[in-house]
Order: sequence, then C-alpha cells, then structure tokens
Amino acid sequence: MDAIRTEALTKDYRVGFWRPRRYLALDSLTLHVRQGEVFGFLGPNGAGKTTTLKLLMQLIYPSSGRAEILGRPVGDVSVKRRLGYLAENPYFYDYLTAEELLQYFAGLFGYSAVERRRRVSQLLDEVGIGAERRLQLRRFSKGMLQRVGIAQAVINDPDVVFFDEPMSGLDPLGRREIRELILRLRDRGCTVFFSSHVLSDAETLCSRVAILAGGRLAAAGDLSEMLAFQARAWELVVTGLSDTVLEKVTTSGQVVRATPLGAQRYALELPLSAAPDRLVTNLVAHGAQLVSLNPIRETLEDFFVRQTGAAPRDRGLEPVAR
Ligand SMILES: Nc1ncnc2c1ncn2[C@@H]1O[C@H](COP(=O)(O)OP(=O)(O)O)[C@@H](O)[C@H]1O
Ligand SMILES: [Mg+2]
Repeated sequence: MDAIRTEALTKDYRVGFWRPRRYLALDSLTLHVRQGEVFGFLGPNGAGKTTTLKLLMQLIYPSSGRAEILGRPVGDVSVKRRLGYLAENPYFYDYLTAEELLQYFAGLFGYSAVERRRRVSQLLDEVGIGAERRLQLRRFSKGMLQRVGIAQAVINDPDVVFFDEPMSGLDPLGRREIRELILRLRDRGCTVFFSSHVLSDAETLCSRVAILAGGRLAAAGDLSEMLAFQARAWELVVTGLSDTVLEKVTTSGQVVRATPLGAQRYALELPLSAAPDRLVTNLVAHGAQLVSLNPIRETLEDFFVRQTGAAPRDRGLEPVAR
C-alpha cells in the first residue's frame, strides 16, 4: 500500500469577472508516494504545489480526479488522525505562547495532561525553540514560527506528514535543523511529503521527487536517475594556461568551450565522454595549475526555466469551455 496516491488530480479556479476563464492550477496529477519515504515535491512558485497539498488536506476540493492517503480516500476520518500538516504560511493566534499553542493541539488529539506536557516539552526542544517556550508567538520571527508549525504538525506522532515549504524563511542553520528533524521522522517510519522550490533541499533529504511546472508533472522518480540532472560535461578551472596550449586543446576537440575568467585563468568545458585526467596531466605538464574539476549538471532552476518558458496555454491558461 502506498502512503499517497493521486490519480489525474485536477483543480481549476474560475478567474476573471467580466470574462470568466478556467485557470488550471493542477492538471491531471498522478503520483505515488511509498510508505516511509521522504518525498520531495518540487517546482517553481505558482507550479501548483500548495494547491496539491490543500487538495490532499481537503481544504479545497478537486475539479476531477482522486486522491488516497494510506489506502483510503482523502477525508477518511480513521486516516485523518494519523496525518500531520504544515501550511505554507502558518498562522497562529499570536497572543498564545509556543507552549500554550502546542498544549492546545495536543489536547485536541486527546492526550492526557501529563502526556501533553511531556510531548510538548520534548517537541519544543526538538525543533529548537525550547528556550522561547514561554514567549508569545507575536514575538517570534518567521523562522521560529515555522518551527512551531512543524512541532504542531507532528504533535500527534503522525504516520504521514505534509509540509508545505518547511524551509522557507529559515537561515542555513535553521534549514539544517529542519532537515535533521525530517530525517528523524523518517527514521521513526513516518512518511514525509514536502514541497520546495529549492533543489538542494531535496538533494540532501530524499531519493524520490516529483517536479511540477505550470500545474503539470514535468518529471518524477529517483533524483539520481533523472536524466535532466545527470552530468552533461566536466568543468575544469585552470590558471597559468598559455594561449598556445589553449588553442591546441580547443582545436583538437579535447575542450569544447573555454571561458576566460581572468589573466590566463579559464573555465574549460570537456565532453563527458573523455576522462579528464589525461588532459589535466597534459595541461599541468605545460605549466597550468588545476583550480577545480566539477561535473556540470542542469540545476532545478535551469530545468524550471526550460519547463516554464513554454507558451501561456501550457501554463494552464485556458478560456472557459461552454
Ligand atoms: N484561489 C485561487 N484562485 C485563483 N487562482 C489560484 C488560487 N489559488 C492558487 N491559484 C493559482 O494557482 C496556481 C498554483 O498556485 P500554488 O498551488 O499556490 O503554487 P505553488 O504552491 O507551487 O507556488 C498559481 O498560478 C496561483 O496563482
Ligand atoms: Mg506554495
């Protein structure tokens, strides 16, 4: 049984008053997420990520298509109590303290007073706001509120959690703490489905991802196997490269492109097919120094630009069909 399944899940919004149109925010999304995995749901702003999460949480309803969580249609009460959800911009009554808020949510799930205190205290420490537990939420920064939101989402020890942009508003240290928290959830057997517009968040956390662009699934699968993100060339940065040597290696085809970076300093692009060590040895023998050697991959940003550079129709704008 999968943790999450969607079949041709579709949501259109009616937009425009004088000339109503259908805006396809999500177009036939079919997705399977396995139990126990950390799954990255990626895409640029406006791709339809939040729409998908809201459909799964039944905050909005689909125009067509279906969704299941833990083998039951979304909305099934027996499943709902096993879920956690962090909204994109969580809003809490901000005269409560972090502790009071979490106590309240723990109460909703029926924990006893003793258990409530224990869970809240442990969670506050885990998300890194133990010291600020008695502070009113209106004094919290965006990053701290994000942590409160995450603690709230996991207060019931859920089997599946949905995090909408959990790293947004966090500094690098905060991002790392949230990453560690997500990995701890996974180690406990929890399925984590999180959205992000940042590829590096996914690279360090999950093996499988789906990439959404313009409301459509652009790619899904194992991040390491995704063709788009496989290395397509080597980039070699060298200094002390003389013009004659440069000309030799470019005319021979060993280097497909040379970008000058400064005096005798170049970024050289080598075809992936050629092992770079021979060229490196050769260049060094001719007085050049190696600065770095890296595979060049397409980044998620490049990928997004390519996907969303499409015509408006492909972005989901369609006149209303009558
Ligand atoms: N209530 C709404 N009415 C009309 N359009 C909406 C509504 N909510 C979202 N949209 C549009 O749907 C698209 C997808 O939005 P969203 O799911 O929030 O994207 P993401 O979370 O990937 O940034 C966007 O173009 C957004 O403007
Ligand atoms: Mg969003």
